[in-house]
Amino acid sequence: MRVIETVDEFRAATPVSDRPLGLVPTMGALHDGHMSLVSRARAENATLAVSIFVNPAQFSPMEDYDSYPRDMDADYAILDEAGVDLVLAPTTDEMYPAGSHTRVDVGSLSERLEGVSRPGHFVGVATVVTKLLSIVRPDTAYFGQKDAQQGLVIWRLNADLNLGAQIVLCPIVREADGLALSSRNAGLSADERQAATVLYKALSATGNMETGDAGQVRRRMRAIIEEEPLAALDYVSVANPQTLDELDVVTGPALALVAVRIGKTRLIDNMAIGSKA
Ligand code: PAJ
Repeated sequence: MRVIETVDEFRAATPVSDRPLGLVPTMGALHDGHMSLVSRARAENATLAVSIFVNPAQFSPMEDYDSYPRDMDADYAILDEAGVDLVLAPTTDEMYPAGSHTRVDVGSLSERLEGVSRPGHFVGVATVVTKLLSIVRPDTAYFGQKDAQQGLVIWRLNADLNLGAQIVLCPIVREADGLALSSRNAGLSADERQAATVLYKALSATGNMETGDAGQVRRRMRAIIEEEPLAALDYVSVANPQTLDELDVVTGPALALVAVRIGKTRLIDNMAIGSKA
């Protein structure tokens, strides 16, 4: 496994590597959720690249950029073990040199849900993912359904800017009690970790809903979250899975989404509902 810190060096490495080339972008602090993307990508590509970059542009000044977990040595060991060929681990100056100014904004899709609670977040995500796809030029890039809105934003920018990657979304990996794996779970105390199961409980309360009143589902999810004293509700949503437009009635495939703050930690999760057709 080769760890590369500069864009020029990475660009020099890829033309000589075998195709197809897969890319898994991450912010490090790797867990089994990330590794599910890595193992799928490993199985589907001749060359596998993983990027590790904690992207300051997607954190607002009030957020946890400084305290975001970082453990590069542990990450390199896990990736080496998983058979990764190339790791792109640039510095912030390498990704955003002095004078860098261009930003990528996919518009309305990034202004709802997470975009309301985290203004500017998706401009930061869209900009760094555009840069990573441009640097690596993978045949396929792998992302997690855990960050459903992020997946839609990335699908949009890849299509709109003709970046030519195939975008693959992989299923959410969960703990035994349903909590979706996340680097941020490490910030939960024991009590908070217990309380964090409320996200999955609320989503599971949508049952195997095929059709029906979306408002009623939102009320049921909200009530479950409000019963948990350590949880502060940010949003519940039942939305069109492509546009994230809020639904009145579920008539086909839909997505239930939740965001909750538990102590200092903000957690998100989602689940497909509605008929699968
Ligand atoms: P990060 O939070 O490190 O996540 C990297 C990838 O792992 C994302 O595509 C995310 O959806 C996926 N992932 C995280 N937890 C998962 C889980 N429990 N199950 C399945 N997939 C999971 O998302 C980012 O980094 C950044 O925004 C990034 C795309 C790298 C841009 O900076």
